[in-house]
Amino acid sequence: MIRVAVVGATGYTGAELVRILSVHPHVELTMITSRQYAGQPFSDVFPSFFQRLDCRLESYEPKKVADVADVVFTALPHKLPMAIVPELLGEGCRVVDLSADFRFSDPDLYEKAYEPHKARAFCSEAVYGLSEVFAEKIATARLVGNPGCYPTCILLPLVPLVQRGWVDLSHLICDAKSGVSGAGRSVSLATHYCEIAQGFKAYKVGMHRHRPEITAILEGLGQGRPQLTFVPHLVPTIRGMLATTYVQLSEHRQESEVRACITEAYAHHSFVRVLPEGRFPDLAFVRGTNFCDIAVRLDPETGVLILISAIDNLVKGAAGQAIQNMNIMCGLDERSGLEALPPVI
Ligand SMILES: NC(=O)c1ccc[n+]([C@@H]2O[C@H](COP(=O)([O-])OP(=O)(O)OC[C@H]3O[C@@H](n4cnc5c(N)ncnc54)[C@H](OP(=O)(O)O)[C@@H]3O)[C@@H](O)[C@H]2O)c1
Repeated sequence: MIRVAVVGATGYTGAELVRILSVHPHVELTMITSRQYAGQPFSDVFPSFFQRLDCRLESYEPKKVADVADVVFTALPHKLPMAIVPELLGEGCRVVDLSADFRFSDPDLYEKAYEPHKARAFCSEAVYGLSEVFAEKIATARLVGNPGCYPTCILLPLVPLVQRGWVDLSHLICDAKSGVSGAGRSVSLATHYCEIAQGFKAYKVGMHRHRPEITAILEGLGQGRPQLTFVPHLVPTIRGMLATTYVQLSEHRQESEVRACITEAYAHHSFVRVLPEGRFPDLAFVRGTNFCDIAVRLDPETGVLILISAIDNLVKGAAGQAIQNMNIMCGLDERSGLEALPPVI
């Protein structure tokens, strides 16, 4: 059994980690931590876990965590993990960090998008946890920087095409929508029910922090520097994320060729589901799952390639992919503990 701790277990991604890990066949969940709820049973904070997970939340203490855990998930707001991850690694733990702190191998890029980095030396060691693309490096990593939700959703359909040199990187446009849980559990006016329930709006237009993450990964594929126009939107739903990416192909291709390229790239990774011609992703079909559903459509009028992808932001966009990465790090089947299907309605 792999001994696992979740630091920040009462946030949305932390609680999702606990939900999935508590029934993972190869995991013993040995510690869950919280500042606000330390000492309380997890099932008091989340009553749906009553009589299933009544263990108590504890305060975070690195030595105590390291004593009982081989793998630690840090599910904290960015800036906090950079302060605690070095000590966890020093204690011999392997870490999957869900924040942005270790997603950029170049700390200057992180600092440009976020703020000064206090653990710069660890950025180049961290492996970017886009499971299907970087599995080989993830397998031996001590530290995985789990990707952002938008980057996961947008990169999965794009990467195989960019790797083949099929994409004109100077003309990428992505229009993406996220459910409100993407903003986390803390209370704010921007995500207050009355402020969002009847609305639909764009936000952080052209200035979202996930853009430099996406472009850094695409640039790392060695095909040039991408120019990405990225417009995120907030939709009045709790979970889910759908991205529509408009691509100019570097030379003419058939729609079927493009679909075959993506299908082939993920042939051995069953969480990426490339849909047949004429079918399109829906948030409902990925809800609560680790799937990324992808549709391909080549507009016959304009020649523009339209890629549509959908994930559950809290699962494939966060906790599920983090557990997939743990599975890969520990030599397990990447699907272990993650095979749940969505509810039908
Ligand atoms: N939500 C998503 O869809 C999503 C997707 C991908 C990545 N992420 C990333 O995953 C990380 C966690 O996100 P989340 O959505 O789970 O956030 P969240 O719901 O706000 O939870 C974060 C948790 O961290 C704990 N925490 C400890 N020290 C804290 C401090 N000083 N300030 C604030 N919280 C503190 C809090 O629990 P206690 O107060 O009980 O300790 C809080 O519940 C973030 O870095 C986020 O960017 C989120």
